[in-house]
Amino acid sequence: MKGEYLMPTYAPAPVTFVSGEGCRLFDDQGKEYLDFLCGIAVTTLGHAHPKVTEAICRQAGTLSHVSNLFSNAVGPELAATIDRLITAAIERIGGGASAGRVFFGNSGAEANECALKLARRRGGPDRRTIVSVEGGFHGRTFGALAATAQPEKQAAFTPLPGGFIQVPFGDPDAFDALDDPDQVAAVIVETIQGERGVRPLPAPILAAARHFCDEHGALLIMDEIQTGLGRTGRWFGFEHSRVVPDVVTLAKALGNGMPIGACWARGEVAGAFSPGDHGSTFGGQPLAGSAALATLGTIEKEGLVARAAEAGESLAGKLSGLPSVTEVRGAGLLIGLGLAEGVDPKAVARAALERGLVVNAIAPSTLRLAPPLIISDSDISRGVDILADALLGGVR
Ligand SMILES: Cc1ncc(COP(=O)(O)O)c(C=O)c1O
Repeated sequence: MKGEYLMPTYAPAPVTFVSGEGCRLFDDQGKEYLDFLCGIAVTTLGHAHPKVTEAICRQAGTLSHVSNLFSNAVGPELAATIDRLITAAIERIGGGASAGRVFFGNSGAEANECALKLARRRGGPDRRTIVSVEGGFHGRTFGALAATAQPEKQAAFTPLPGGFIQVPFGDPDAFDALDDPDQVAAVIVETIQGERGVRPLPAPILAAARHFCDEHGALLIMDEIQTGLGRTGRWFGFEHSRVVPDVVTLAKALGNGMPIGACWARGEVAGAFSPGDHGSTFGGQPLAGSAALATLGTIEKEGLVARAAEAGESLAGKLSGLPSVTEVRGAGLLIGLGLAEGVDPKAVARAALERGLVVNAIAPSTLRLAPPLIISDSDISRGVDILADALLGGVR
């Protein structure tokens, strides 16, 4: 069966994967691939990681679900762990301790929906505006899509919820030029725009967003769904710019493949919600939560954030010497490869796949690489060799 009963929201898949182990995937023909994409920045510990597999199996044999009408032993512990990691990161960049609280959903879009609703709940009736940055991607649900500043993704689904405005990508003065700044409930940003071609948001823009929020009483939401949890060589992308967020959203890598999203907010901000304001049947339940605890515990114990920084540097260095590569963007193991004019990233990704390497074409001239944080030096070299061959032989 090839997916003829699935809705046609994705292009036809070139390969059917049936298993994975560490950095490798295997298709239904038994062919082996090196995975330099990790879902899309999801399986940061690699496939079938024994610690995550063990946690899922143990939890499935103990208790999967009880609803949020009751407490469970996993969700509160996971919230405390996420809070510890985020507050430690904020302290590292000089932001001072600020204990927070967490809401769990099942995806990145849901984490952002929570953040957007929280901002309006806190802002009240006179503070409804949400500001995002041109090119930003925040998800496909209606609220998250309204914040997604990419008109081509929005056009077929209007009218979108009102009160969402965008500022241009590269202009730190754009925040101060906004009409009715005191009506802004939140500014939402990615530290690196992953879906827009791994485009780092310049530090002055992040600083200007922070300054605007401080001046006008708005919240700064950092969407760390793609950049968070070690991917960029720091626990969180905001550590690179040293700009402190009020709200942080996470998903992708959190469960190493189990669906889970989280919205963290500073304590006094989170306190704007009351029981009944927001909810999720599956969010915060033990099964995905235990996978997330195992994932975070492994990243910490094995020092994988530092490894991502080191491996990212080595990978970026090797990539910058490849034919047709004009630019290497990103941080750590989230890398965008700018390709020379006339080189089609889709053709390169196809050629790489044929040669046993998974990467993806993310913008008209960009390839995205997001290998697992556990990648070895020899797999880095092997992946670069395959990509070099794809660039030379596959696209000309
Ligand atoms: C930065 C960012 N925010 C939000 C999302 C949406 O996440 P999900 O697809 O899990 O809803 C994504 C997904 O690519 C993302 O990269």
